Amino acid sequence: MTEIKKIAVLGAGLMGHGITQVATQIGKFEVYMRDIEQRFIDNGMTMIRESLQRFVKKGQMTETQMNETLARIHPTLDLKEAVSTADLIIEAAPENIELKKALFREVDNYAPEHAIIASNTSSVSITELASATKRPQKVCGMHFFNPPQLMKLIEVIRGAQTSDETTQTILEVARRMEKETVLVKKDCPGFIVNRILIPALNEAAAIYWEGTADRDDIDKAIKLGLNWPMGPLMLLDYIGSDTTLAIAEVLTKELDPKFHPSTGLKQMVKAQLLGRKTGKGFYDWTQR
Ligand code: 3HC
Repeated sequence: MTEIKKIAVLGAGLMGHGITQVATQIGKFEVYMRDIEQRFIDNGMTMIRESLQRFVKKGQMTETQMNETLARIHPTLDLKEAVSTADLIIEAAPENIELKKALFREVDNYAPEHAIIASNTSSVSITELASATKRPQKVCGMHFFNPPQLMKLIEVIRGAQTSDETTQTILEVARRMEKETVLVKKDCPGFIVNRILIPALNEAAAIYWEGTADRDDIDKAIKLGLNWPMGPLMLLDYIGSDTTLAIAEVLTKELDPKFHPSTGLKQMVKAQLLGRKTGKGFYDWTQR
C-alpha cells in the first residue's frame, strides 16, 4: 500500500473545504488546499473555521485541537506547489469533464510518480479521467457526501484500470478519516447513491414546477413519508441545482434517456436559483 502523509485537495468550494477539514481534523493529514482564486480560498477557510468553532462550542474539540487542525492546512493558488510533494491528490473541481480532464493532465505532470489521483466527482467517468494521465492504475473515485464533516459515507470507485493497491490505499485513507465505505466495482455513471438520488430530486423539481403541490408539502411528504432528514427541494438547494442538473445530464447521456432533467430543474439553473451557493433556490438562504 502507498503510505499517505500529504494530501492535495483541488478546490476549496462546498465539497473541497469539507474534505480538507475531515482530512486534517480527523485523518491528521497535512493538506494543501488549492483553488484558482484567492476569494475561493478565503471563503473555504472561513467555512472551515466556522465548522471547527461549532465542534469547539459543543465541547467535541479543544481550541488547541482546532488550531492544530488549522495549522495542518496549507492554502495555495499554485497547483505545482500543491501537488508536487503530495502522496494523494483529491480533485474536487466543478462537474465539467473537460475541465477535470485538463486538471488531471496537469496534475499528472507535476505529481510524484507514486502519487494517487482521486476524484470526488459525482458522476463523471473515472476511467475517462484516468485516460488523461499516464498512471491510470493510480486513479480512483473517492466520492464524499455533503456536508463531508457530518456524512459518514465515501463511495470508492474503481476505474477500468485502477489497481488493487490503489483501491486498498483509498479504503485505508477513508478509514483514517473515520468514514464508512462502499466499493463500486465497476465505473458507472452516478455510482450507487446519485443514480438513485438524482432521479428523485429531479422528480421533486418537476412536481413543484407543474404546481402539483407546494414546496413545503413536497418536502414534508418526503421527510415524514420516507424519513429523510431534509426534504428533496431543500436537499436540492443544499447540493445546488446546477450540480444536480450536471449529474442528470451525465446519467441521461451515458446511461439511459429516462434520466433526462425536468423543465423545473433546468429553469432553476437558468434563473441562477442555485440554492445555498447563490443565496436563493427553492428556499431563501440569505437569512439563514
Ligand atoms: N460542521 C460542523 N457541524 C455542523 C455542520 C458543519 N458544516 N453542519 C451542521 N452541523 C451540526 C450542527 O451544529 C448541529 O449540531 P447539534 O445537533 O449538536 O446542534 C447538527 O450538525 C445538525 O445540524 P442542523 O441542526 O443545522 O441541521 P440538521 O439537523 O438538518 O442536520 C444535516 C444537518 C446533517 C446536513 C442533515 O440535514 C442531513 O443529513 N441532511 C441530508 C444531507 C444529505 O443527504 N447529503 C447528501 C447529499 S448527496 C451528495 O452529497 C452527493 C453529491 O454528489 C451530490
